[in-house]
Amino acid sequence: MAAEAQQLTVPTEAELLQGQADLWRHSLYYMTSMAFQCAVKLGVPTTIHSLGGAASLPDLVAALSLPPAKLPYLRRIMRLLATSGVFAADNAADVVTYRLTPVSWLLLDSVAVDGHPNQTPIVLAATSRHCIEAAMGLSDWFQKDVVASPFEDLHGVTLFDGSMAEQDPEIDAVFNDALASHDNSGFLTVLRECGGALFQGLESLTDCCGGDGTTARAVVEAFPQIKCTVLDLPKVIDNVPADGVVNYVAGDMFKSVPPAQAVLIKLVLHHWSDEDCVKILAQCKKAIPSREEGGKVIVIDIVVDSSSGPTHEAELLMDVAMMVMTNGRQRDETDWSEIFTKAGFSDYKLLKKLGARGVFDVYP
Ligand SMILES: C[S@@+](CC[C@H](N)C(=O)[O-])C[C@H]1O[C@@H](n2cnc3c(N)ncnc32)[C@H](O)[C@@H]1O
Repeated sequence: MAAEAQQLTVPTEAELLQGQADLWRHSLYYMTSMAFQCAVKLGVPTTIHSLGGAASLPDLVAALSLPPAKLPYLRRIMRLLATSGVFAADNAADVVTYRLTPVSWLLLDSVAVDGHPNQTPIVLAATSRHCIEAAMGLSDWFQKDVVASPFEDLHGVTLFDGSMAEQDPEIDAVFNDALASHDNSGFLTVLRECGGALFQGLESLTDCCGGDGTTARAVVEAFPQIKCTVLDLPKVIDNVPADGVVNYVAGDMFKSVPPAQAVLIKLVLHHWSDEDCVKILAQCKKAIPSREEGGKVIVIDIVVDSSSGPTHEAELLMDVAMMVMTNGRQRDETDWSEIFTKAGFSDYKLLKKLGARGVFDVYP
């Protein structure tokens, strides 16, 4: 033991000072989240946009109708958020002007940038009391022999299955809006970057868990030859009006998936455990013909990178968020490959990585 201890390298004084700063940073990261939530709730991104894309603090205080005495406090919030990349700050002639960055462009009321709907509901859901309290219970949860997620263990309900709606309809609506803004963002980029490789030549497609058909309609608009079917639960399909574009089928993906040349399953599997993913993908496989006949499953989901950097950090944060809130997880390419093999698929191609999302063709 003593010999092992001798080999330990004690950090230098400079390293310990840096360690202390990092300790503060890690302990107080939630202040960034709360400052971010504050700016979003006040409407700072939309206000900067409506002021022509640049605003000084006095401009913001006036446009947001804040008490003038709050200006020095807003300065401190904006300084932190500019350092974190939520806004950009220009300092000319001692006047700081705040501008939008790609993060704040995603938070504008009534402005969908390149098909990305306003992502404000994601900020409000992720920084809600419900999520934060569930995350605060992590250490207690680790010591309990329970399979329920920390969220379910604490609140007694699960997300997105209706039980939350009975307990607290207001927060349930926030979570559903967040899910819709997450799921409906970025599909135009998928169509542009790899739409041809994915959909060209396909005759039919089933969008498994396709909700209200937003994705399926975008596919048909870009590739009108494709006969598209959307599968979702009866409670969802019963509320979708017929549109004459897509065929809507109510059902359960664990029991069967409507047959088609290809099945699309987008941002679904990360909500489920590995065992459930294998069951779902096995049903998708039953729905498609052989590879020679063009059969494939298109999986669009988070793929955790091996690289470092902000996207990797976001993927890991999203993975722990899945652990706290659901029974799902984010997976790296090896995890995906194992699931595809277990579900009986012979091969796959990771066609593209678009931000945190990967686009796979998976072959029977
Ligand atoms: C995360 S959303 C799917 C997102 C959608 N694919 C998109 O990209 O916009 C999950 C969807 O799965 C549906 N769902 C959940 N369990 C299901 C099941 N057993 N069978 C069919 N659909 C199911 C839900 O009703 C919900 O619409």
